[in-house]
Amino acid sequence: MTAKVISGKEIAHQIREELKAEVAQLSKKGIVPGLGVVLVGEDPASISYVTAKERACEDIGIFSDDNRLPADTSEEELLALVDKMNKDTKINGILVQLPLPDHIDEARVLLAIDPAKDVDGFHPMNVGKMVVGEKAFLPCTPHGVIQMIKRAGVELSGAEVVIVGRSNIVGKPLANLLIQKSDKGNATVTVCHTRTKDIAAHTRNADIVIAAVGRPNTITADMVKEGACVIDVGVNRVADATKKKGFRLVGDVDFEAVSEKAACITPVPGGVGPMTITMLLYNTVESAKMANG
Ligand code: GUN
Repeated sequence: MTAKVISGKEIAHQIREELKAEVAQLSKKGIVPGLGVVLVGEDPASISYVTAKERACEDIGIFSDDNRLPADTSEEELLALVDKMNKDTKINGILVQLPLPDHIDEARVLLAIDPAKDVDGFHPMNVGKMVVGEKAFLPCTPHGVIQMIKRAGVELSGAEVVIVGRSNIVGKPLANLLIQKSDKGNATVTVCHTRTKDIAAHTRNADIVIAAVGRPNTITADMVKEGACVIDVGVNRVADATKKKGFRLVGDVDFEAVSEKAACITPVPGGVGPMTITMLLYNTVESAKMANG
């Protein structure tokens, strides 16, 4: 079998066109959704993610308030900026790019964000609401993954899903969403991690494998059932002297070999990445609508 490639770029484009139309409608009422973006330090991957998020905002008509702070910014300074954005009525969403430098308590910063502006869905209030199935901002990468699976026409209800990776940003929230009795879930979910005895024994039985580990070639062809759907959340830089930047991006999945066995697969780049940004735009537009009744 040669897998159908699920293009995150194309699905993201569709959703962004829908959002663009919504933003145009809002602007007729004098409403411009605003996103406050905060980046502390100069981690190259974070810089490129934040730049992509700001460009995407501009593209669909969301105002973005760009705050790039030096790596030695204190926790108090960062909290003061979050507080200012909490109070700013032009800002509907606040995004503090993670990871933060070691001297800053990430949990304290996330807790300081007004849950009504928490478009990342990382505030414990939104995490809790999500777990019990109440309306909340859904975390962008898990929500994007679910949109891709659904828009690719893959049945989630009753499917055996194996997630490899248990991060707070992807693995844990995704598992919670997928088990829910809702149109986003109804799946049977297994979460594998570094202490799982035999990851392949689990992935080989999966209808859908989701890799969110951060290590190239974690999922190889022998680990995947014939006809499975494989979603690659990993973004890894590997040295490549033929590239202008000296590296290329690869996911966690051995794309070439797994494509021969799977029914559908997401590429890296152009897979989950554009969907994460798109769901951030979606949450920001939703927040602006809620703030304006
Ligand atoms: N770092 C990696 N992914 C994310 C994300 O989705 N949001 C934020 N704020 N930081 C991240």
